[in-house]
Amino acid sequence: MKNLPLWDTGQTIETRFKPDADIVLYEGDVTSFLAELPDRTVSLIVTSPPYNLGKAYETRTTIESYLQTQAGVIEQLVRVLRDDGSLCWQVGNFVQDGEVYPLDMFYYGIFKQHSLRLRNRIVWHFAHGLHAQQRFSGRYEMLLWFTKSDDYIFNLDAVRVPSKYPGKRHYKGPNKGKPSGNPLGKNPSDVWEILVEEWEDGLWDIPNVKANHPEKTLHPCQFPVELVERCVLALTNERDWVFDPYMGVGSSLIAAIKHNRRAMGCEKEPDYTATARERIEAYFNGSLKLRPMGKAVHQPSGRERVAQMPPEWLDAHEGEVE
Ligand SMILES: C[S@@+](CC[C@H](N)C(=O)[O-])C[C@H]1O[C@@H](n2cnc3c(N)ncnc32)[C@H](O)[C@@H]1O
Repeated sequence: MKNLPLWDTGQTIETRFKPDADIVLYEGDVTSFLAELPDRTVSLIVTSPPYNLGKAYETRTTIESYLQTQAGVIEQLVRVLRDDGSLCWQVGNFVQDGEVYPLDMFYYGIFKQHSLRLRNRIVWHFAHGLHAQQRFSGRYEMLLWFTKSDDYIFNLDAVRVPSKYPGKRHYKGPNKGKPSGNPLGKNPSDVWEILVEEWEDGLWDIPNVKANHPEKTLHPCQFPVELVERCVLALTNERDWVFDPYMGVGSSLIAAIKHNRRAMGCEKEPDYTATARERIEAYFNGSLKLRPMGKAVHQPSGRERVAQMPPEWLDAHEGEVE
């Protein structure tokens, strides 16, 4: 389906926060932007912060100093979050001298200092990635969903997924014989299989699978829009503010705009902010390529060349039964 704009008139993209804006793209440090934001403004903060891995956009430091900086930002994020709002913090691992530090565990204590309530610790599982040599290859990251209070938005029906067995029926009790599931589908659970990369349309011989994702840009670790869409739909209502303090190339903002929410984000790297702006404009003119939400993961048939055992390995597998 074409990505049709949800507003009739062209959207102005503001570069500073204005209470009556629809979209704000701030280029600069997150702390400067937060200083301009009023208390209790945002319904959903959804982000993937820098992981202190020494990526092109970050300077690696000790884990203590990294977390101390992040704690200062989090204090301000809690201040701008509405009382019925949610915060979704997506992180992986920090690795030092071969030792793995699960960042979500370190962050948990910081959020609890502000009395946020954890609603789900979501495992974002993906099939591809780097192949480790001295430990098992990592194939998941975490998304911590906190709320600021016990009175929070949760639109489960907006994000239900197809049931595996919709025809199941109650076999006893007062509802005996009636369908036992929900006609809108099932709860998507706390394990999310949302793709970062995929082999599309059976193009199995393309070596750079990452570049083959329809949303791929210059950013080394961008969110799939679909991952944020689920948070936006479940945790906010239309016209609420969605904020990504480390927006990169604007994936969270696109997810928000697509579902008629107001979107703001900040990013310190000018190239990424420029790409975020281009993607939002492309969304409005219908030319942005997005992987459709809920699209099934491609399953190999086994006949593809890359799915077959190289002839030179056959000896090593002699005698194995399928
Ligand atoms: C993990 S990436 C987020 C990518 C994003 N989810 C996307 O889909 O493009 C973290 C981003 O935070 C930005 N960043 C790091 N420190 C920042 C700071 N102090 N202020 C603003 N942005 C910062 C980096 O440049 C990087 O683009």
